[in-house]
Amino acid sequence: MKADSDCTLKMAIDGPAASGKSIVGREIARRLGLRFLDTGTMYRAITWEVIRTDVSLDDACELTAMAAHANMQLVSSKDGDRLLLNGDDITDMLRLPEVDANVSAVSALSGVRRALVAQQRNIAANSGIVMCGRDIGTVVLPDAGAKIFLTASAEIRAKRRAIEAGQEHDLQRVLDDMRRRDKIDSEREDSPLHPADDATIICSDNLTVEDVVLQILSKVRAC
Ligand code: DC
Repeated sequence: MKADSDCTLKMAIDGPAASGKSIVGREIARRLGLRFLDTGTMYRAITWEVIRTDVSLDDACELTAMAAHANMQLVSSKDGDRLLLNGDDITDMLRLPEVDANVSAVSALSGVRRALVAQQRNIAANSGIVMCGRDIGTVVLPDAGAKIFLTASAEIRAKRRAIEAGQEHDLQRVLDDMRRRDKIDSEREDSPLHPADDATIICSDNLTVEDVVLQILSKVRAC
C-alpha cells in the first residue's frame, strides 16, 4: 500500500485523553488528503445534550434514544471544524467542565455506544479517513489499514491538558480528573480502552507532535 496516493486508507488512532490523538490525527489526515473524525466529540455532543435537556444520567433508555436520533454534522469553517447537533452549532459547549465531568459515564453506556458506532461506520464507509477515539481499532474499524495506539504518562498528559486550558495552577486537580477518566474508560465493560492486537504502540512522552506524525507516516508508507 502506498499511503500517499491511497485515498481509501482507513487509519485508527486510539489512546487515552490528551495523548495527542487529535492533533496528530488531524495533521496526518491533512498530509495524506484524508478526512478526519475525532469520535470523542460525538460522545461529548450527547453528553452536552443530556445536560442541556436535564435528562438524568441514570436514564440509559432516554440516553440511548437521544444518541440513536442524534443528527450530527461536521462543518468546516475558517476556525476549524464545527459540530452541529440536530442543526445547532454546539462546538463551544463540547469542552465545558460539566461535559468533561460526565462524558466518561455517558460513553460507558452500551446503547449510546451502539448508536454512535453505527454512525461512525457509516461516515467511514465511502472513502479514506483518519478516525481517532478509544475503540476505533478494536471495535469501530477492526479492518483499518493502519492502527496506532498513542499513549503518554498521566503526568505528561495532565500537564499538556492544564497548559491547554490555562489551568497550570491546578495541575493536581487536572491529574486526578485524568486518572479518574482513564479508569472509567479502561475498566468499562463495553469496548474498554486498550490497544488492538495489531496496533503499533507509540509513547509520546518525549516526542513532539512532528516526531509522532513522522513515525506514523513512515510506518504507513512501509506497509
Ligand atoms: O477524546 P475525548 O476526551 O474527547 O473523549 C471524550 C470521552 O469519550 C472519553 O471519556 C472517552 C469517550 N470516548 C469513547 O468512549 N470512545 C471513543 N471512540 C471516543 C471517545
